[in-house]
Amino acid sequence: MKMISASVVALAIASTLLSMSVPLAARLNKEFVVGGDQHWRFGYNYSDWALRNFPFIDDDILVFKYDPPNGTNTPYNVMSFDNPDDYLSCNVGKAKVLANETQGADEGFKHRLPNTNIQYFASGINDGFQCKKGNMKFSVWPAPY
Ligand SMILES: *[C@@H]1O[C@H](CO)[C@@H](O)[C@H](O)[C@H]1NC(C)=O
Ligand SMILES: *[C@@H]1O[C@H](CO)[C@@H](O)[C@H](O)[C@H]1NC(C)=O
Ligand SMILES: *[C@@H]1O[C@H](CO)[C@@H](O)[C@H](O)[C@H]1NC(C)=O
Repeated sequence: MKMISASVVALAIASTLLSMSVPLAARLNKEFVVGGDQHWRFGYNYSDWALRNFPFIDDDILVFKYDPPNGTNTPYNVMSFDNPDDYLSCNVGKAKVLANETQGADEGFKHRLPNTNIQYFASGINDGFQCKKGNMKFSVWPAPY
């Protein structure tokens, strides 16, 4: 019995050391408010935000928060691109609307990152103007866990 429990302890220590050496595998998925306290707005640098929050993992959740149109503010939405060239040039014609201009209200629009596919996001209002001139674009490539 003594022998068995000693090897169980050794195994537990070994697996603890193993998981410490792969921190990605150790963390659970979590929610990120896109832009932090700046939320989703014209002029904030979302590529920089994505870099500072690297790495993302599968099943992390991006939360896009923006006010619905109220007659005086600028409406935003959330689009995703399949084609990296469309993303780079802010060609929103073939992009998919993930969230319309009202869905960022209150708790925000939640988007779960899929399995390890690179994802390209932008706000696509006014034919890509916010993407082109307002830095409202970023990509993430979630790592497996
Ligand atoms: C946004 O941030 C990225 C990464 O830090 C940087 O390379 C880029 O020049 C910035 N863009 C603007 C418009 O400042
Ligand atoms: C409209 O929303 C903006 C923020 O997006 C806010 O600053 C402004 O006060 C709101 N206007 C009205 C009339 O509610
Ligand atoms: C936005 O999407 C929501 C949820 O699908 C829907 O209820 C709402 O009517 C849409 N709003 C607009 C302006 O299309």
